[in-house]
Amino acid sequence: MSEKPWSGAFTQPTDEFVEAFTASIDFDKRLALQDIAGSRAHARMLGRQGILSEADVEAILDGLEAVREEIEAGEFPYSVALEDIHMNIEARLTERIGDAGKRLHTGRSRNDQVATDFRLYVRDEIDAILAKLARFRAALVDTAEREADTVMPGFTHLQAAQPVTLGHHLLAYQEMAERDAGRLRDARRRVNLLPLGSGALAGTTFPIDREWVAQELGFDGVTENSLDSVSDRDFAVETASACSLVMAHLSRLAEELVMWASPQFGFATLPQSFCTGSSIMPQKINPDVPELVRGKTGRVNGDLMSLLTLLKGQPLAYNKDMQEDKEPLFDALDTVRGSLKVMADMVPGIAFHRDALRKAASAGFATATDLADYLVRKGLPFREAHEVVGKAVRHCIDHGLELPDMDLATLQGFSGVIGEDVYEVLTLEGSVSARDHIGGTAPDQVRAAVERARRRMEGEG
Ligand code: ARG
Repeated sequence: MSEKPWSGAFTQPTDEFVEAFTASIDFDKRLALQDIAGSRAHARMLGRQGILSEADVEAILDGLEAVREEIEAGEFPYSVALEDIHMNIEARLTERIGDAGKRLHTGRSRNDQVATDFRLYVRDEIDAILAKLARFRAALVDTAEREADTVMPGFTHLQAAQPVTLGHHLLAYQEMAERDAGRLRDARRRVNLLPLGSGALAGTTFPIDREWVAQELGFDGVTENSLDSVSDRDFAVETASACSLVMAHLSRLAEELVMWASPQFGFATLPQSFCTGSSIMPQKINPDVPELVRGKTGRVNGDLMSLLTLLKGQPLAYNKDMQEDKEPLFDALDTVRGSLKVMADMVPGIAFHRDALRKAASAGFATATDLADYLVRKGLPFREAHEVVGKAVRHCIDHGLELPDMDLATLQGFSGVIGEDVYEVLTLEGSVSARDHIGGTAPDQVRAAVERARRRMEGEG
């Protein structure tokens, strides 16, 4: 019983199962280095403020360094009886340095301590995910540049709608990923504030210097309200929400790659190092990586829901419920990090089959809108042009033709304003290069968009 740092008022030992049930060490050991960094800054501040002696501070810093080495060497004796990472480290420190270790917790509570550790961890993870996002975006941009002239069908309702360039299609995902990065950066601004100094909930009676600790730990500032500081987890919700959107975007690309790599589409071949085979069907080369990314989106959405539900209805300030905040966010961060890595690694190795893409774009009357626009330029109101082209398409369906297969006389049967120049707008190249404005699919616009995206990425530093 004496092992517990809080057992003074207790007359009965903790139930054995309850001990395991309430412990968080199995998952919050991830916060070990953040916990030590926080304790270092806290101890030094206590020394500067004359709350602890210089000798105690020195002993604490040396002891924490030894504990850190033990953790990094994988030799730290984690104990479930000591509940969480905070008490594990403090107990180990005290074991090593004696009384000075018992003074470290002066002016601090595990409530502001865990909030600090968690924010430090999430901040570093956001930075790591931003780096992965940057690699993924660079892969998309490079591939888009390579495929700026590649024509493919653009889809609505998964039916060929209008020709687009593959470069344009890929840059759509770079736009999503750029907004994802913006959301993470925005969340980071609210993550990166120091809650330490809030004590258990009301602050502390010691003359602490929170600003100094904030600066030491690289926080942008301190939180304002102690009650809020120990019970606020909306930074975790925001981060998980940004993670969910990353996964939503990745899963859309993943879904397209699964389809494109199927023999039915035949648009792309994924690198074999990112595929696996079947134990029974020898012909199979399965797109497991994008399928798993698509599948993992569900668990991140679940993590977000867990966090939102966890917060709902908790009275101020800290409640033990809060301990449930870590596993969902850890899972979301791990999943996003891994998914971004694997997609960034895979994208440059995808072989796009330009002939198949082109053939698919030629089928399904994809230049029908171009013909309507042509008629408008010849003076027809758009609605009438739409009707004329609809009839021409009907004729093609009935006779097994595509629009450019019709001879001029047939086309003129639908509208007298049609001339020989109509064939230019019916070609795939004519169609895509005509959409020549910011946001359009023309190859020159894709190249310009690639340059702008690269410049913005450089600016993000
Ligand atoms: N393991 C706890 C958590 O993750 C640390 C804070 C415990 N505070 C308390 N008053 N029981 O939230």
